[in-house]
Amino acid sequence: MKTAIYPGSFDPITLGHLNIIKRAAVCFDRLIVCVMVNSEKNKGLFTPDERVELIRRVVAKLPNVEVEQSSGLLSDYARQKKACAVVKGLRAVSDYEKEVQMALINRKLNPRLDTMFMPSSAKYTYLSSSVVKEMAYYGADLTDFVPREIIKDVNQRMEDRRNA
Ligand code: PNS
Repeated sequence: MKTAIYPGSFDPITLGHLNIIKRAAVCFDRLIVCVMVNSEKNKGLFTPDERVELIRRVVAKLPNVEVEQSSGLLSDYARQKKACAVVKGLRAVSDYEKEVQMALINRKLNPRLDTMFMPSSAKYTYLSSSVVKEMAYYGADLTDFVPREIIKDVNQRMEDRRNA
């Protein structure tokens, strides 16, 4: 069985992420979407547990997709799950340098782990969780940016933050 990991912060999951998940799920027997810690990012809009719950809701109909979280190294997590690949979406050339560096570090730490880069769908190249948060902050319509199952949650959380 070929298992791949799709790691990320997913704060929150976007339609761009979902597009990568659906395409990667076709290529592997099992795809684990893993909410992980990006040490360069500050406290998020959602807790890791909440992000897992939101993603599970969105991928509920994809039978070979699982959702988990880990606060450790991706290379260790992949070893533990017997995964042979990490899937990463690439939106633009600007993503490339950092992503290749991470792929090489991960393979150094776990020589059985390779990284597969998937180009983002052209319609989502501009999209990121940060852009979603910025739009939610200003009350923009999120229909074209996040899965419909979680739009209310994102808007509600942003309103709570604004009123805090
Ligand atoms: O969605 P992001 O923030 O671009 O995802 C980055 C993430 C979480 C995949 C990356 O920071 C990561 O792999 N974190 C886990 C720790 C790790 O293994 N870091 C790379 C080797 S030092």
